[in-house]
Amino acid sequence: MYQTRKKQLFISMKSVKQHNLISRLTLSTIALLFLFTLNLSAQGDAKNGKKLFNSNCAACHKLDKDLVGPALGGITEKRENAWLKAWIKDNAAFQKVDADAKEAAAYSPTAMNAFPQFSDQDIDDILEYTKPQEPVITAGGPVQTFAAPVKQDNTLLYILGAIMVVMLLMLFNLYRTINELKGDAPKSRSFSEQANGVWEAFKRNKFLHFLMVIFFLLMTAYFAFGWMSQVGVDQGYQPIQPIEFSHKIHAGDNKIDCQYCHSAAKHSKSSGIPSANVCMNCHMNISEVADDTKIGNHGKDILDKEIQKLYDAVGWDPEAAGGGAYTGETKPIEWVRIHNLPDFAYFNHSQHVNVAGQKCQKCHGPVEEMDELYQYAPLTMDWCISCHRETEVDMTENGYYKKIHEQLAKKYGVEKVTVAEMGGMECGKCHY
Ligand code: HEC
Ligand code: HEC
Ligand code: HEC
Ligand code: HEC
Ligand code: HEC
Ligand code: HEC
Repeated sequence: MYQTRKKQLFISMKSVKQHNLISRLTLSTIALLFLFTLNLSAQGDAKNGKKLFNSNCAACHKLDKDLVGPALGGITEKRENAWLKAWIKDNAAFQKVDADAKEAAAYSPTAMNAFPQFSDQDIDDILEYTKPQEPVITAGGPVQTFAAPVKQDNTLLYILGAIMVVMLLMLFNLYRTINELKGDAPKSRSFSEQANGVWEAFKRNKFLHFLMVIFFLLMTAYFAFGWMSQVGVDQGYQPIQPIEFSHKIHAGDNKIDCQYCHSAAKHSKSSGIPSANVCMNCHMNISEVADDTKIGNHGKDILDKEIQKLYDAVGWDPEAAGGGAYTGETKPIEWVRIHNLPDFAYFNHSQHVNVAGQKCQKCHGPVEEMDELYQYAPLTMDWCISCHRETEVDMTENGYYKKIHEQLAKKYGVEKVTVAEMGGMECGKCHY
């Protein structure tokens, strides 16, 4: 009798221990979640950071090489975020109170200026830019692929997933507690009974209801946002590319025809991005830019390295005997796609460029003036349709259209036919 009671006590102690373990797990998950959220706020926007870096820091710093100041690439791995903020805001003041800062200041007799005007967010943005870029893939071969657009991150989804885990743990936890109170040994019960127990526990717990509601609200907001951003407008979208390739230098200053590189525009649905082999037609011989070539603050020293990235991609060694040779080691370049219609819309380049004779610039803007390419047009349905309403189809010297034109002009009783009148407003023409 005494023995069995002791045993029972022991069992219940054991389950209390387990119970504690689960509580702790729950607590630590919540704590992790919290830290994770905090960490989020310390994340910067590399695009803005790049701009700030170019205009404020590039005179003295490079990412990959010591200049007036030390190389800043990967600096966040060496120094704490708070240390960096204090240093950047006012390094002279910081040196007086921090031994590491004093040591860092010994790097050069030149002093770095203070940047008290920067917000914490500005500095986080700059630091984000100094982090090593994601590895890049593509090129080398004749076919170029695109990286998925890096517009959306999944952090929120992870947070929601973690919340879900927390809720499940809490539920389980509660269920155990109830069982303990009842003195049941949990394992001896059938699955449906257990499920029922969990359900009962859930029904009784107001806090869980509250969490549940928040969870669903967040979930709904997340997916609604995801959907809207999918069909949303990305005008002005300008991602950082794996190679700092300038359209201004190529299509503008050097007057290279758009279709020399985007040769597919004329005869296929998409324009495509030139393979690295196309680049090598010229760059087998051009391994350096002119002394005065610049992209923003970046001069020859940086741009020559960008050409070197192209060489790394195609495996070209310009130093090899006989004026350079391929090493056979290729490493694709993964350009980040900028223009991207949703899957349910159909757009065809050859129809617009070749048949309709529209200039690239009509839709892509002054590309030949852009160092870094960005999305010029909104690419909304409204945008497509307005142009179809306004644009008259050029029928001259186009046998195919001559006949249709005569029929349509008669039908609408007009001299000229717009794209809209020709059928450019029919849903099925643009939607699968
Ligand atoms: C006038 C030149 C100059 C400018 C502009 C400048 N720095 Fe510096 N920076 C230096 C020098 C020089 C050092 C090395 C410390 C010293 O010798 O005082 C340094 C050091 C640093 C360090 C410390 C590196 C370490 O761990 O030792 C960081 C971080 C830094 N700079 C960031 C920036 C950022 C970010 C900007 C732009 C907002 C910037 N600097 C602009 C000259 C400059
Ligand atoms: C020397 C080759 C070359 C020439 C010439 C060139 N491009 Fe490009 N183009 C590229 C490369 C490489 C990319 C991908 C990198 C980037 O987006 O900057 C690109 C990207 C683009 C994109 C964005 C594609 C996307 O991701 O959505 C457009 C639009 C574009 N080019 C239009 C033009 C137009 C218009 C011209 C003529 C004024 C032109 N290009 C001339 C090589 C070239
Ligand atoms: C009538 C408007 C229009 C004209 C003219 C036009 N484009 Fe585009 N371009 C677009 C649209 C819309 C997209 C997005 C297509 C998609 O996502 O399916 C696009 C995408 C691109 C891309 C990204 C890759 C691809 O093909 O999807 C490149 C590169 C490009 N255009 C280059 C050019 C060049 C070069 C010309 C001139 C020879 C040109 N475009 C003329 C509207 C136009
Ligand atoms: C028709 C010839 C030609 C083609 C094709 C060509 N380039 Fe260039 N590229 C040049 C010239 C010329 C310069 C140097 C301009 C100067 O000295 O100022 C240059 C400069 C560059 C630079 C340094 C300036 C900058 O834009 O950052 C890079 C990087 C570069 N090219 C990459 C590429 C890539 C990548 C391709 C293929 C998509 C390509 N080039 C295709 C002629 C070409
Ligand atoms: C710069 C003006 C312009 C813009 C912007 C434009 N288009 Fe067009 N589109 C034309 C012209 C001109 C034609 C007539 C081509 C022809 O002669 O067949 C045309 C024809 C078409 C056709 C064929 C219509 C038919 O009756 O066969 C489709 C489909 C089409 N466009 C889709 C789009 C989509 C999708 C967009 C937006 C992403 C778009 N267009 C944006 C000018 C434009
Ligand atoms: C000239 C081409 C064109 C025609 C004609 C056209 N659409 Fe669209 N439509 C588009 C494009 C491009 C998008 C994507 C816009 C975006 O990403 O914002 C779109 C988006 C949509 C959307 C998603 C919501 C939105 O606005 O983003 C709906 C719904 C839609 N179209 C319905 C229709 C219907 C119904 C018709 C016929 C009356 C039609 N479309 C005719 C090009 C066209």
